[in-house]
Amino acid sequence: MTGTEMKSLFISLFILHLSYAKETERTGDIVNIVAFGEGRCSDTSYWMKWHWLPMWRMLGSTGRINFEYHPYGIKTTCVDSDDGTDVVCECHHGARECILNQLQSCVIEALPNFEEYMEVVTCIQGKQNISMAAQSCFDGPTKLDRTKMVECAESRHGRKLFSDQEKVVTQLAPEMDWVPWVLINGKRYKEAEEDLWQFLCDKFIDPRPIHCPKKIIY
Ligand SMILES: *[C@@H]1O[C@H](CO)[C@@H](O)[C@H](O)[C@H]1NC(C)=O
Repeated sequence: MTGTEMKSLFISLFILHLSYAKETERTGDIVNIVAFGEGRCSDTSYWMKWHWLPMWRMLGSTGRINFEYHPYGIKTTCVDSDDGTDVVCECHHGARECILNQLQSCVIEALPNFEEYMEVVTCIQGKQNISMAAQSCFDGPTKLDRTKMVECAESRHGRKLFSDQEKVVTQLAPEMDWVPWVLINGKRYKEAEEDLWQFLCDKFIDPRPIHCPKKIIY
């Protein structure tokens, strides 16, 4: 190998190293967030609109956030119907809430990942009723069919999708007594209901990406 060839080999190895380092930094720690909420709960609505969504807009592009949402809260019960072919649910904020939770469950089923479903789920969250939600939440880029989604929400399948989430609560959040209930890497943090962006950056995302705010010294 000549001196020049050697030099260019070193340069390409160096560039390779640089891009590899960048890649591993981007795929560094992944933070797993699982949240539970209720369609007509104003604390859940507030959290989604003012904490979850802004955090996602800042940190989503880092590829470090993984998220899962379950529209199932407290004071909610689902039992098999008398003939066993359906489920009958009662929700914390009444029947209107059940149907919104069912609509959110249908959207979550229809869209394969949270990056797609979360904007729609947030839009449905807190709406007056299913017609208001249907009217305003299906014009986005997801191409979900409004009529199909409403049909799903009002069907046995929609009720089943919703009631099935009770198992997830039992499994991941058996002590849930409040919504929104936010788990980070499997553990519940009350602080995550406030400034989620800051909290994740300061406590969980290491190395700290440039998309983070200034660190708060606790
Ligand atoms: C849904 O809510 C809107 C706004 O409050 C109201 O005008 C409409 O009548 C309601 N629809 C149903 C079916 O309750």
